[in-house]
Amino acid sequence: MHLLSCEGITKRYGGVTAVDGVSLSVEEYETLGIIGSNGAGKTTLFNILTGFDRPDSGTVTLRLNERELQVQGFGAFTFAHMGVGRTFQNLRLFEEMTVYENIRTAILSMKRTEIAAEELLKLLGLTEQAEMPVNKLPYGTRKKAELARALVCTCGVKKGCRLLFLDEPAAGLTTAEAYELALLLLRLKKQYGLTMVLIEHNMAFLEDLCSTLCAMDEGKIIAAGKPQEVFSAAVVRSAIFGE
Ligand SMILES: Nc1ncnc2c1ncn2[C@@H]1O[C@H](COP(=O)(O)OP(=O)(O)OP(=O)(O)O)[C@@H](O)[C@H]1O
Ligand SMILES: [Mg+2]
Repeated sequence: MHLLSCEGITKRYGGVTAVDGVSLSVEEYETLGIIGSNGAGKTTLFNILTGFDRPDSGTVTLRLNERELQVQGFGAFTFAHMGVGRTFQNLRLFEEMTVYENIRTAILSMKRTEIAAEELLKLLGLTEQAEMPVNKLPYGTRKKAELARALVCTCGVKKGCRLLFLDEPAAGLTTAEAYELALLLLRLKKQYGLTMVLIEHNMAFLEDLCSTLCAMDEGKIIAAGKPQEVFSAAVVRSAIFGE
């Protein structure tokens, strides 16, 4: 059953059509990967599917409590309350605050006080860094802190969607860190019953996690299917891998 779907999403910035008539659907508990060259429109699509931007046209539908709800144009805070969490390509943490304070702020602003920040920190292996200001931490650790904050939105809901959007989660990580993150995401997915959508350039990471891939080019979806099918499609090899 679809948890999320969109139909004919288009978004223009001036003369640039960043997303051009995109339709896709995400099954509950699936992990969908989105690939594409720089500027293909991946983050713009993410912004629309998480309430950070409005489409010029098209619809976004979420299944919430067994009902289909059209949510295009709803704000990010409303998406978060429905159980949609996300991370950002360029991290957006409160840099001067500690890891603990960043997570606690999310818990308080979302009124999810039943979530124990300590438990989330432990789950993500951040207990030792909890009292450190975020701007003093290595990149991989900061990314985990952002993931913890997104989980407050996603996992704190009792009847929401439990949808986690990750914009290039493995970018900037070493091979070992990326592998560790893939294992962590698989564990979180099982523990919380998550549905995930992720943008990535790391093919091994995508193959480890994703059941389905969508390839984007110039705002359009040019191929969709199982990872190996998409990687080997001629249109993807020419548009994305430059062959
Ligand atoms: N806020 C904005 N204002 C103007 N143009 C924008 C804005 N956001 C995105 N664009 C443009 O829309 C196009 C798609 O950008 P987007 O960031 O969605 O691509 P992307 O696939 O995420 O690329 P990358 O792999 O580099 O992150 C680009 O041409 C970009 O310059
Ligand atoms: Mg992007």
